[in-house]
This record gives sequence, structure tokens and C-alpha cells, in this order.
Amino acid sequence: MAEPKRLLFNAFSMNCVSHLNHGLWGRDDTRQTEYLSLDAWLELAQILEAGCFDALFLADVVGVYDNYRGGPETSLQEAMQVPVNDPTLLIPAMATVTEHLGFAFTGSILSEHPYNFARRASTLDHLTDGRVAWNIVTSYLPGAARNLGFGDLPDHDDRYERGDDYLEVLYKLWEASWEDDAVVNDAAAGVYADSSKVHLINHEGPYYTVPGPHLCEPSPQRTPMLFQAGSSERGREFAARHAECAFVVGNVASSGRIVADVRARAVRYGRRPEDIKFFQALSPVIGGTEAEAKAREAELREQLSIEGGLAHMSGNMGVDLGQVDLDLPLADFDFNGVQGFFKTLAETAPDKTWTFRDLARRQISGQFATGSPEQIVARLERYAEVGIDGFNLIYATTPGTFVDFIDGVSPLLQARGLMQTEYQPGPLRQKIFGQPRLPNRHPGAAVRR
Ligand SMILES: Cc1cc2nc3c(=O)[nH]c(=O)nc-3n(C[C@H](O)[C@H](O)[C@H](O)COP(=O)(O)O)c2cc1C
Repeated sequence: MAEPKRLLFNAFSMNCVSHLNHGLWGRDDTRQTEYLSLDAWLELAQILEAGCFDALFLADVVGVYDNYRGGPETSLQEAMQVPVNDPTLLIPAMATVTEHLGFAFTGSILSEHPYNFARRASTLDHLTDGRVAWNIVTSYLPGAARNLGFGDLPDHDDRYERGDDYLEVLYKLWEASWEDDAVVNDAAAGVYADSSKVHLINHEGPYYTVPGPHLCEPSPQRTPMLFQAGSSERGREFAARHAECAFVVGNVASSGRIVADVRARAVRYGRRPEDIKFFQALSPVIGGTEAEAKAREAELREQLSIEGGLAHMSGNMGVDLGQVDLDLPLADFDFNGVQGFFKTLAETAPDKTWTFRDLARRQISGQFATGSPEQIVARLERYAEVGIDGFNLIYATTPGTFVDFIDGVSPLLQARGLMQTEYQPGPLRQKIFGQPRLPNRHPGAAVRR
């Protein structure tokens, strides 16, 4: 019999008080309000590594969700992704107390010039011995664009065009500027780097002009492992070209459709279907028995904040849900925000005339995966059957949700060969894909000398 496919597991978090399940931060069994303390992050990283998780995945936004009821008040009151601190600065500290855990951080192509971002990512890759991944996002909050000097948020597809050019700059800096043997570090000869092996990139694109060279010597992975989460038409094209790991939300059927579609597109770019690993977002609520799990879910649902959820969705959609008639059909709106996500949700509706109210109820009550450890494993397997390779686990309480998973579900997965029991050696990409650098089929490799 064939070996079962090992699944991948990330903990999903954010350097803020309330990430996705809003209204729970005041509970006494969660460390959410300790996000300012390194102690809470170091504890989390150590728990995840002892539990053989592949990575900690950190979301980020560079803007305030400020369109619900016309302002930021609800978001601030609920600590709904604001205040939000820089995710990347946590990583070196967590890397010092772990040896293998990966760190995926989210970074918007709007928030930093690619020349400087290339250096930040290379520095992180060096300091972690190659354990970082970058989640490429194009931003959906208009405030981010306004504060960063873009005026209004560029159009949805235009953001992806900019993203293509941004990536082109990065690939040239990471992959083509310094040759592998450029650093000779020969103290006797007084030569650290061989200048003939450090090259300008002379990039002139539609959005960026960057002569180079890259400021950093080659890091273990050169290009950090690349995540992406767009699922709109344009987002899927972008993922098919660039992503090594793609992040999906939705039920088994809708996720299966996205996986198949993006893999088919990737093949058209000369890549292989297995070059992209798909991670399903899931919010597990685990009990010793099904009844225990359901009781816990009921308790969480009671505390979930509807207002926080509406403020979150309003920002995602670019529509003030405080103003709209919640009984209007979704079909009447043209979202300039997170198109793919809501289109996917709408597709999962039992009938095709979903209203905002249906959407709100579904989203805000949390998309919990509730059950006994055996039931959770069965659920993960159903996703695996449609091509999902791994999971980004959303917390209700942190680190409690992850501890529940590690104590209850991981042993069952490990006994069945579905979760690693020890880490593979080497950088993150090597652990996941078997090699530390981008494969030759990836567009980032095409710029190599
Ligand atoms: C599961 C998931 C997680 C995401 N996480 C972030 C995030 O942390 N920061 C961010 O700015 N955008 C995030 N996004 C937004 C996407 O990166 C993307 O910009 C958005 O989905 C719009 O693309 P689309 O219309 O192609 O789906 C996320 C989207 C999804 C579906």
C-alpha cells in the first residue's frame, strides 16, 4: 500500500490582540493581550516546535479597518487587527529558541519598496538559517494605500500587475545579483567578496526601476519560500506563477475546485502540479468527545463579537455593512476588496441568492471545525482527498487552540503517518519540497545567471 501523504501544519496568528475570532480576547485562558510581550511569542514558538508544526504563519495588515459605520471606532474598541505590530520583528527572537520551526510572515507589496524589502527578507533568512516564508499580499484596505502615498487603493487587478513587477525586482536581487561563490571571505588576501561576481540587475519595469546590486550576500534559501492567498481570477493567475504555497478558505468542494484550477494554471506556466502546496484555513474546536467539543463551541459562539465580525468583513469587502441593507443579494455588489474570498463563499451557498446577512451569520459565527480528535482527523482527510496539502489553524484562544490540537489530534495523525514526528534537516523549503532553493521551473529561477 502507498504511504499516506504527510500533511503540513501551520499555526495562524497575527501580531495583534484579535486576529479572526473576535470578541474572545478577554477570556482568562488566552494570551492575546500579551502580544506586546516576547514571552508569549517565545512560548508559542516552543509549543509549536515541540508539537512538530511546520511553521507559525503571521498575518498582517498595514491599515485600519475603518469603513464600518463610517469609521474606525468598532475596530479600535474590539482590538480587531488594530493595534497591530510588525510581524517580522518577532521572528529572530523566536528563531533563537527553536531549531526547525518555520516562520511565514505577511508583507504587502504596497508597504515597502522592493529594494528594501529584499534586504529585510534576506536578513531574516540569514538570521533563521533559512526558515522564513513570505506571504505575498496586495492589500485591500484603502487606508493602507492612502497612508503609503498611493492615494486611493489601486484597482484590484492593477495591484496584481504591480505585484508581478515587484516580484521581478525581488527575483533579480535574490537570485541573480550575487553569484554563489561571490563571497570568498579570504582574510589572508584581504578579500571578503569577489566584486566580479556581484552584479547589477538593471531592472526597468512598468512600476519599478532598480539598478541593484542586492545589499545582502546569498542567504540559505535566497528567495524565501513564497505563500500567496488570492483566489480571484487574477489572484489565481498570480498564484499559479509565483506561489509555492497557496492559502485557501472554503468548504471541501470549493477548495477542491480552487486547487485543481490553480494547479492547471501552474502547468501552463511550465510548472508541475505538485510545485504548489495548498493550505486550508481551519478553526478547530476540539473536545475529548463530540459532546464536549460542541459545548465548547457553544460557549465560544456566545462570546464571539458580531460587531467585530461586521467591522472585519466591511474592511475585507470595501462595503460598510453598517450602511447596507443586510438583506440585499451579494450579486448586486462589485467588490474592489477581497474578491476571490467572497466569491468563493458565495459559491458555497446552498442556493445562489445569498444575502449579506447570510454571509455575516456564516462568517461571524466562526467557521469552526468542531469535534473529537477522531472527527477532526476525518475532516482533515476529506480536505486531503481533494488535494489540500496542509492546514493553517486559526485560534479561538492562544496558545490553547494549538495545545488542544497537539495534545489531542497530532498523536492520531502521527500514528497514521499523516503528520511528521521529527523534522527534516535544512531550510524551510528543503523540509517541505526537498531542496533549499527555488526549482528551475519557477519564474524566479529564470533570472538566474
Ligand atoms: C485566508 C486568507 C488570508 C489572508 N491574509 C491576509 C493578510 O494577512 N493580510 C492581507 O493584507 N491580506 C490577506 N489576505 C488577502 C489576500 O492576500 C488578497 O489580497 C485578497 O484575497 C484579494 O485577492 P483576491 O481578490 O484575488 O482573492 C488573505 C486572504 C485570504 C483568503
